[in-house]
Amino acid sequence: MNVLSAKNLTKIYGGKGDANSTHALNGVQIEIESGEFVGVMGPSGSGKTTLLNILSGIGKPTTGTVEISGRNIASLSKNELALFRRQKLGFVFQEFNLLDSLTLKENVMLPMILDKRKPDEMEAKAKEIMSLFEIYEIANKYPYSVSGGQQQRTAVSRALVNDPVIVFADEPTGNLDSKSSKAVMHCFEKINTERNSTILMVTHDPFAASFCKRIIFIKDGKVYMEITKKASRQEFFDRILDCLAVLGGEKNDL
Ligand SMILES: Nc1ncnc2c1ncn2[C@@H]1O[C@H](COP(=O)(O)OP(=O)(O)OP(=O)(O)O)[C@@H](O)[C@H]1O
Ligand SMILES: [Mg+2]
Repeated sequence: MNVLSAKNLTKIYGGKGDANSTHALNGVQIEIESGEFVGVMGPSGSGKTTLLNILSGIGKPTTGTVEISGRNIASLSKNELALFRRQKLGFVFQEFNLLDSLTLKENVMLPMILDKRKPDEMEAKAKEIMSLFEIYEIANKYPYSVSGGQQQRTAVSRALVNDPVIVFADEPTGNLDSKSSKAVMHCFEKINTERNSTILMVTHDPFAASFCKRIIFIKDGKVYMEITKKASRQEFFDRILDCLAVLGGEKNDL
């Protein structure tokens, strides 16, 4: 089943005639099926964040369309889009974006609180997901008193509580050390294999990317190439490194 379909996406920042305009996307097509775990990689400035923002309704394309679950998101009003994003999409960012004044569990429950769900239902859902990610024992702690990896696993839990049709993640391991990155990537892998969650993740990190099943490489605002996992994660990791070498521009990031 198709979850996301994007056609002919272009994005020009600063207006077409403007001498300072930037062509951030130049005709991108992407199809994502239910249960896929897709990575987006590419050099700095290649358009990854622009693409993710447009696919998730944060930004508007200059031309082109994005359909999620068969709905053209440009056809939604501002309020409808806000509701659609809260109920149908999950978001994970590099900076965790947790509220410092709430416990980890309250942070996880936040999207459900906004939807006025029943307290025992919220409790059960938070317990289920936080247990899966091995952070339920620390559910009553505050973000400042736990590690970066535990904060990010809380953010991933929060992204999942409304059973989104797709989870968007922009550099989810960007602020984490290698051990915490690994734990967070195991969480993504777990929800993808055990719960069939559909994930689209932007990353610079070939190790994080090796957990994906498919990688789309972007260069100069275009899809440059695509690879699919066939064997082990190690074999996929090696092929990702080969692609990055061909793509160029990543050496300083590694
Ligand atoms: N709000 C904006 N206004 C003007 N130009 C922008 C804006 N956001 C991004 N750009 C430009 O669009 C291009 C693509 O930027 P984008 O942030 O999508 O790249 P990226 O692949 O996410 O890079 P990075 O790996 O550094 O995060 C760049 O040339 C960038 O300078
Ligand atoms: Mg970016």
